[in-house]
Order: sequence, then C-alpha cells, then structure tokens
Amino acid sequence: MLKKAKLEIDNIQYELPIVAGSEGERGIDISILREQTGCITLDVGYQNTGSCLSSITYIDGDNGILRYRGYPIEELAEKTSFTETAFLLIYGELPTAEEKKAFSQRLTENSMVHEEMLRFFDGFPVTAHPMAILSTMVNALSVYYPQYFTIDFATETFDLMVVRLLSKIRTIAAYSYKHSIGEPFVYPRHDLKYCANFLHMMFHSPVKPYEVDPDIEKTLNMLLILHADHEQNCSTSTVRLVGSSMVNLYSSICAGICALWGPLHGGANQEVIHMLEEIHRGGISVCDCIEKAKDKENRFRLFGFGHRIYKSYDPRAKILKRQCDMLKNKFQLHDPLIDIALELEERTLQDEYFISRKLYPNVDFYSGILYRMLGIPADMYPVMFAIGRLPGWIAQWKEMHDTKPFKIGRPRQIYVGPTIRHL
Ligand code: CMC
Repeated sequence: MLKKAKLEIDNIQYELPIVAGSEGERGIDISILREQTGCITLDVGYQNTGSCLSSITYIDGDNGILRYRGYPIEELAEKTSFTETAFLLIYGELPTAEEKKAFSQRLTENSMVHEEMLRFFDGFPVTAHPMAILSTMVNALSVYYPQYFTIDFATETFDLMVVRLLSKIRTIAAYSYKHSIGEPFVYPRHDLKYCANFLHMMFHSPVKPYEVDPDIEKTLNMLLILHADHEQNCSTSTVRLVGSSMVNLYSSICAGICALWGPLHGGANQEVIHMLEEIHRGGISVCDCIEKAKDKENRFRLFGFGHRIYKSYDPRAKILKRQCDMLKNKFQLHDPLIDIALELEERTLQDEYFISRKLYPNVDFYSGILYRMLGIPADMYPVMFAIGRLPGWIAQWKEMHDTKPFKIGRPRQIYVGPTIRHL
C-alpha cells in the first residue's frame, strides 16, 4: 500500500504520497501542494528538495557510499577506464567488447577541433583562465556542429554529440594550456587511449618528447572516473535546469562548466593548492589557517573540506589519498605540500569544530595534490574536473529529456519586497 504523509494547514488535512527509491530513500511528493493548498515549500539552498527521480548515481553520505548505475566507485576506479565509465553513465550499462571498440573508434574520429575554431584561441589573452576558455569553446561547438537536440531527436544525433563533446573537450582543454604557455598545439594521436592522448597533447613538444607513464595514465583515469557524476550537485542541476529550456546540449554543458568553476564547487581543488602554497610560503601557519576557517566573521573556508551530502569521509578522497601515496613512493616525490595537507587533515580530524560539523576532506582536497603530481598547473584543475564530470552531465541531461512529462525547471519564491506603491 502507498504510504502517505499528512499535512495540516488552517485546520484542513491533506495527504501527500511518499515516494520510495530503490535504496530506501523517501521523499514526500508535493506536486499537488500549490494547486490544493495555495502554499509552496521554502527550502533555501535546496537542502531538502529532490528535483527528480534518477537512476544514474546513488550516494549514501552518512556511510560514504557512491555508486554509478549500481556499481561501487571503488570497483569502477580500479577496474574500468574513464571511457567505459562514461559509457556506463550515459547508456546505463558497461559497454560490451564490441561497443567499447566502436565507442573508442568514434572518440578518436571526433578528437580534432575544427581548424577554424583554433582562431578563437588567438582572441584570448594568455592570462585567460582555462575554465573561461573551456566554457566559451564548448558553447562555440553549437556554432560549428549545429545539429541540435530539439523536441524530436534522433538517437544518432545524440550519439554523435556525445562522442564529439567527450573527445573534443579534452583537445580544447589541452590547447588552452598550450596557448597559456605560448607553445604550438599538439594534435591528438589516433593510437593513444583517451587519457594518454590528453597527456600527450598537454605535455608533448617538438623539442621535448613526452612519454606517457602507465601509472600516471592510470591515475588520470581514476581521477576522471571519480569526478564523473555526483547526482544533483550545483553544476549538474544547472545543466538540467538550463537544458530544461530545450536549449542544445553544448550550451547546457557550457552552463555546467560555469557553475563548476566556483570555489565552493569544482574550483575548490585550485583553492586547496593556493591555500597549501600560502602555508608553505609562511604566509599563514596550519593552526592559523584552521582558526581562520572557524572564524564566523571571516568568509574564508578550509577548501577541500566539508560536503553537502557526505557526513563521513568522502569515498573519492579515500581512493585519491591512497593513489597519492602510491605515486609519492613510486616517483620518490618530496612535495612539501603533501606533508602540509596531511598535517591539516590530522589536525582537523581532532578539532571539535570539524568533528561536530562532520567536515572531512572531500574529493577536491587530494585531487589538487594528485593533479600537481601529474604536472598539471593549478588553474587547470577545475578544467580536469569538468572533463571528468562531462559524462555525468550528459547522462543527467539525457535522463531529464527522457522523463515524461517533460517540464521546464522553474522554482517559485516567497516575495518579501514592498507591497504596491505609486510614483
Ligand atoms: N571550512 C570551515 N567551515 C566549514 C566548511 C569549511 N570547508 N564547510 C562547512 N563549514 C561549516 C559552515 O560554516 C557551517 O557552520 P555553522 O553550522 O557554524 O554555520 C557548517 O560547517 C555547515 O556548512 P554549510 O555551509 O551549511 O554546508 P553546505 O552543505 O551548505 O556546504 C560546502 C557544503 C562544500 C559548500 C562547504 O562544506 C564548503 O564551503 N567547503 C569548502 C569548499 C569545498 O571544498 N568545496 C568542494 C566540495 S566537493 C566537490 C563538489 O562536489 O563540489
């Protein structure tokens, strides 16, 4: 029997259906609320609001669990490649051997950026933040490949947009880096896999050939897999909301990139490194940094700590911390920022402020350190996050479009401004 919640407003009782998810999560369906009661709900920051039913990603924040399409993140990070996980997220199942081959082939075929688009790069100053370049270029794809997804869409068009975006975003990202350091673009190679190809385009130069180390390639695969989806976070909700206006996929993804850039979201990994560098320079001590983050008069936060959903250790951070140790030992790295990071973590784990608020290191704490080990500069970290999150955005955008009835996203408000007045 369907369970119901009871709500009483002005002595009138209403019954609201309770919707249960496959993992036992429950939500009160309030879709009749305004029509029948005249009231709406108020939930600033959407802390209690479910915006959709979704079968892509499951998170249990209290127990540190993250699964894509039912598969634990730990297994995916260890045993799959980023492109297999991308396929899983977007199409619902891991690819068969044949599908995998065809998908890889199509990614390779679509890896080049339209030559005319390269001229865009000349218009950006070398100091331009790569996230600004990335969002601009992704939106510009809608100019060069204008087969939009509109009301009636052919699967073929969608499939093409998927490989185009997944493949070109990596080329655009690497080109924006080359542009910032004044080096010529390195074209993608057909014989390299997704992550190796990206590293090649980033670090190869005619005067200094770059050999891809298998552990570096594996680490990048792992990082991108861990970024690949995280249900209805700020950027994903942005992609869904923007996409709900029926705008094309490229523009929806562009909006997601902009949302991800902020330091409270995917821009936090860059902030973490700035914070650790500042401590290393002697600008602030570890203790003072923690005290500053606790000071309510100060807007500063300990970047890479805390999460809206995880109230225990972020499972992604756990995997990345292990990978950090592995690379550190393999390459005999002595990066003082790692020691500072470990000290920060240790101190916060014993600090009442962080314990009582359940603030633990999140994915951005160790991903910044790992990207640094890979030789990627700090302002590229949010770009790396965006490359990783892309399959999730696409999967969520597709799921939204496949959901019936289709609704434009449009929250309401409680107006608290002046009542009518006249000039
Ligand atoms: N440093 C200091 N205090 C913090 C921090 C932090 N990093 N995070 C949360 N708090 C405090 C916050 O001040 C509040 O304290 P009080 O109850 O006294 O007012 C309490 O903890 C609850 O925080 P909140 O801001 O209500 O939590 P939220 O769910 O709205 O915010 C968050 C989540 C991730 C924006 C926040 O934890 C934060 O700003 N962290 C730093 C930025 C960061 O690392 N972001 C990356 C998140 S992981 C990647 C992603 O998915 O985006």
